Amino acid sequence: MELLEGIRTRRSIRKFKDTPVPRDVVLKAVDSAKYYPSWKNTETARFMLIENKDLKRKIADCVLGFTHNTEIINNAPSLIVVLTIKGRSGYERDGRPTTSKGSHFESFDAGLATQNLMLSLHNEGVGSVVLGIYDEEKIKALLDLDDTYSISCLLPIGYKVEDAICPARHTNEEFLIIK
Ligand SMILES: Cc1cc2nc3c(=O)[nH]c(=O)nc-3n(C[C@H](O)[C@H](O)[C@H](O)COP(=O)(O)O)c2cc1C
Repeated sequence: MELLEGIRTRRSIRKFKDTPVPRDVVLKAVDSAKYYPSWKNTETARFMLIENKDLKRKIADCVLGFTHNTEIINNAPSLIVVLTIKGRSGYERDGRPTTSKGSHFESFDAGLATQNLMLSLHNEGVGSVVLGIYDEEKIKALLDLDDTYSISCLLPIGYKVEDAICPARHTNEEFLIIK
């Protein structure tokens, strides 16, 4: 798929076929996603692939009451939990924040990795959607994750049932400020 076509045609997919996404397809997308830019090339983003249905169902219940997301996760054949290793991106080696923005760049970097992953999956015909409403502490406990990590987002993945409508976009005049 041509790059700009991929960027423009990627849509958030929330309804998936039962068909599993083969592990090698996920691995191919992950292999491209790792070329994301990151703070001093610290590469602090990590992906955790959840294929186990029971575990996925338990995670789906940790959505702060936003059952819309429960349905999406349960409907998807696999789930990727996007992790960040805390305290490196945006920080000096001695642990001091380099700028006034503190931990800001941790999930910023993970977001860049996630967009690479979404586009790489899209290139393989696999849909995905970023989910931001979840109970981080409960999911960390389910996944045995200690305080080294934070969860930057959840990403259900699978083959789409139907094309998703593209929500309206800003005009260039709204989007780009030129001074
Ligand atoms: C940080 C972030 C959090 C999001 N959280 C959710 C969510 O909790 N549930 C959901 O259905 N979609 C969620 N989305 C998906 C957006 O609604 C979607 O990207 C937006 O409507 C644009 O549609 P498109 O991705 O098809 O271009 C989230 C997207 C981002 C970037």
